[in-house]
Amino acid sequence: MNKQINIIYISLSGNTKAFIGKLMQYFAAQGVTVNALNVKEFPEFTKLKKPFVTFLPTFLKGGNGVDNGYTEILTTILGDYLAYENNYRHCYGIIGSGNRNFNKQFALTAKQYASRFGFPMIAEFELRGTKNDVSRIAQKITAQQEIFEKQKQE
Ligand SMILES: Cc1cc2nc3c(=O)[nH]c(=O)nc-3n(C[C@H](O)[C@H](O)[C@H](O)COP(=O)(O)O)c2cc1C
Repeated sequence: MNKQINIIYISLSGNTKAFIGKLMQYFAAQGVTVNALNVKEFPEFTKLKKPFVTFLPTFLKGGNGVDNGYTEILTTILGDYLAYENNYRHCYGIIGSGNRNFNKQFALTAKQYASRFGFPMIAEFELRGTKNDVSRIAQKITAQQEIFEKQKQE
């Protein structure tokens, strides 16, 4: 079993950061190390070499996500980082978050990234997530990482 999880994420108002903190504790209890980088705090781009998972909260410009309101605001630096030096090729999946009050726009940007970059949308959660979300998403990450590693060996 792989004992390291790398996370590239963005958190503007701290919800995603808080969720990742809980996830790190969960993994630590299983002896798994997590390296997590918030591109908001470390905006210098580097070429990434190790597999990672991405977390992206949703910030859209108005609209309803059906007829309009698809335009990402504030988080575009994460997309730029993924595009930089083809970093996205090492990304084995994305987890979207947001607020369900936004209905069709809930977690929409992560879905857009999945189709733009061609990696799978692994899961979604609301705001800071629940305890259940932590274990559910931890399991999904581990499973997706294993699939990615196997595909690389083929
Ligand atoms: C200006 C603004 C626009 C937002 N737009 C959406 C949206 O379109 N869809 C959604 O699911 N959540 C939306 N949210 C909610 C955030 O995605 C949610 O609060 C998220 O947990 C923020 O993550 P962060 O605290 O890690 O930055 C919006 C929040 C703000 C402040």
